[in-house]
Amino acid sequence: MTNSGDLTWWQKTIAYEVYPKSFYDTAAQGTGTIAGITAKLDYLQALGVGAVWITPCYKSPMVDNGYDVADYYAIDPSFGTMEQMDELIARGRERGIRMVMDLVFNHTSEQCSWFVESRKSSSNEYADWYIWRDAKEDGSAPTNWRSIFGGSAWEWCEERGQYYLHTFAKQQPDLNWENPEVRKALFDIANFWADKGVGGFRIDAITYIKKPPVFEDGPADGEDGLYPVHAATANQPGILDYLHEFKAAVRDGRDIFMVGEANGVAASELGQWVGDDGVFDLLFEFSHMHVPMGEAEIWCRPVTWELTDLKRVLAASQEATATNGWYPAFFENHDQPRSTVNFFRCDGPLAAKAKVLGAVLLTTRGTPFLYQGEELGYGNATWKGVGEFDDVQTHAQYDFAKTEGLSDEAALAACTRFSRDNARTPMQWDASENAGFSTARPWLPVHDDYATCNVAAQEQNDGSPLQWYRRLASLRLNTPVLLAGAWRELMEDSEQVLAFERTLGDDRMVTLANFSNEPVTYDPELVAGLSPIAASEGIAAPGRLGPLEAVIWG
Ligand code: GLC
Repeated sequence: MTNSGDLTWWQKTIAYEVYPKSFYDTAAQGTGTIAGITAKLDYLQALGVGAVWITPCYKSPMVDNGYDVADYYAIDPSFGTMEQMDELIARGRERGIRMVMDLVFNHTSEQCSWFVESRKSSSNEYADWYIWRDAKEDGSAPTNWRSIFGGSAWEWCEERGQYYLHTFAKQQPDLNWENPEVRKALFDIANFWADKGVGGFRIDAITYIKKPPVFEDGPADGEDGLYPVHAATANQPGILDYLHEFKAAVRDGRDIFMVGEANGVAASELGQWVGDDGVFDLLFEFSHMHVPMGEAEIWCRPVTWELTDLKRVLAASQEATATNGWYPAFFENHDQPRSTVNFFRCDGPLAAKAKVLGAVLLTTRGTPFLYQGEELGYGNATWKGVGEFDDVQTHAQYDFAKTEGLSDEAALAACTRFSRDNARTPMQWDASENAGFSTARPWLPVHDDYATCNVAAQEQNDGSPLQWYRRLASLRLNTPVLLAGAWRELMEDSEQVLAFERTLGDDRMVTLANFSNEPVTYDPELVAGLSPIAASEGIAAPGRLGPLEAVIWG
């Protein structure tokens, strides 16, 4: 690849994830709306965004905020109507912003009509659409698997006299992908949305769709006597056959992209998943998230890490997608704590930390995926008690921490550090009541810092994270070496600085990001012949970086 002209539209854009429930409320109801996204298209355009991933807004009982879909062909009334969704797709396209729908295909809601039928008997039309198993002889669950949200992954159904499998919450029964009718029904849904002119799909929890041939107990890894369902079922041989079928039925022949959410796929396996022979265009893999959060993501178990651990996995992902496939770069999404907390081991101003991360994200190779609010430099929220959390997983992690013997305070501290609700507090638009998100009381508390950390205030401040993200977004979109250039790590062994260069023909750019709150020095030869293009704290001297400072040379 020699110039950015060889790239497709989604490789040359910036993607932005919207969690609609928390983005902008046009209905004075305390939860965000689809019309609220349409109302903020100007804002997204000013950030250089060309693709907006909207987390599920289909009809849902909202046990997992839309990741429990009851009807894939309808918009949940709390978000608005199908007409408003069509309007959003159309208004977005006029500005070169394409919507990306979230396909939740590992499971449905228990209220989905397919499951409502399936649970009735083992002989009806939908009987085989989910994963049903008999109880063990003593009446207990078929295996000792622990669901991702905690507790057994099996739920007893009195009506049918069998257990069903749920990788996530018990209200999210897993679909049976072995059944060709299930696959066809899912591909039809994707085609329905593709025909509406969306720009692509994010495919949820995809590594769990193929179950193992034999279901058996695993060694318990916690005081609850259970074994993680992830270890038992993720990424099973044969999964790629289904996904090739998916790609042929939906993706082929369309100018869209598909990004899979693939917890459990290692960088070394990326080649099978993305690229010419792969099944997706991009893959969210989580190796860098596991660095601060731990491989098993058990929030109450302490994790220790160094910057070089993070750098090693980021470099591995870059190398794995250097010549095949394409990398979706991200530090945040709706399932993670805020990155300014997650990726730093030192104290220091959150705004400076956000700018350091922004420098990396917006100059690295791949398509950057920003998550709403990341561009403002939020920290985690303050949680006064476990009752303030809405998230089903946070409550499960809290209960698990208690079974592990933690005190109430320690269990709350673990949730405060890692809860997904940290990412889900309302977007902070201005300093007015409820941060300008809604005129009604928001569904989750607004972050304490909203009076100073908000879009309106940061637009007035040249040194703010928002202005830094806007500047770098524009730089990226107008600089071929940042879009198409090769990536090579520099200063591999540094525990303070994450650094890399991008090269394309004779062009070369270097990003140096100091993740520590101490000044550091580096070999000025690394930037010889280059000039500072952007400096997060406004000071750029060759060979020196200030505390929590990022500088881009080119
Ligand atoms: C994915 C989603 C997460 C959801 C889960 C179950 O990991 O990102 O929010 O809870 O799948 O659908």
